[in-house]
Amino acid sequence: MSKLIIANWKMTYGPIKAGAWIRAFRRERLPKDLEIAVAVPHISLPAAKASLGRASVPVLAAQNVSWMDEGAFTGEISASMLVELGATMCIVGHSERRLMLGETDEMIAKKVIALQKANIQPVICVGETDAQKKKGKTEASKVVRQQVQAVISGVIWDKKQIQPVFAYEPIWAIGSGKACPPQDAKDMHALIRDTLRKKLGDVVADRVQIVYGGSVDPRNVADYLSTTHIDGVLVGSASLDPRVFGMLCRAASTA
Ligand code: PGA
Repeated sequence: MSKLIIANWKMTYGPIKAGAWIRAFRRERLPKDLEIAVAVPHISLPAAKASLGRASVPVLAAQNVSWMDEGAFTGEISASMLVELGATMCIVGHSERRLMLGETDEMIAKKVIALQKANIQPVICVGETDAQKKKGKTEASKVVRQQVQAVISGVIWDKKQIQPVFAYEPIWAIGSGKACPPQDAKDMHALIRDTLRKKLGDVVADRVQIVYGGSVDPRNVADYLSTTHIDGVLVGSASLDPRVFGMLCRAASTA
């Protein structure tokens, strides 16, 4: 399985800058052994797609979706609209949405189902807060296990369907410069895998990609990717400069 490297711009770059980013990133020397995606604001997806032209790297991702198909849901964007915009992947349940906008496990589970129906790969974010971490490993593990269990049941775990990716993103490590030590991340990834195994069996659980996110940069990316159970990374700040993100991809490839 190729390692998955996902850029998450969050609420940065409207259409003009998004187009420029894609053009600059395309000039980077990109390794062929990686799967590279970039999650851009909805509004910037058309410009990103236009700048990509026929190139298939990076894959375009969205950062959120509605679980509804259509109708009176002001401000929402459906999975089928994302398909029209060229997104083939979508982040769901990012902690910034869970904490600032009150997204619940239940909403996230419904979003995952809507994405799967539209053949868009969901990237489901889970992770504990600083306060939960301070209560100890048992508490942090409980939180993450519950977040994973909450989304498992509605998903179709058949190889013919697009399969969700999990992103373990400890909230205290996001944007803080305090990356989670790879060995600790590995333990949490193993716990996620184990939770999947218990519900879905080994064969299905073993093919789910689990990526790490939280202060990943070109210097530490190889440490994560060379650790068991870490199948990729989700990168915020270090993805904003296309040259830095290009550097990160090259460092990821040598891992
Ligand atoms: P960061 O963000 O790399 O800036 O820590 C990661 C994320 O929130 O996905």
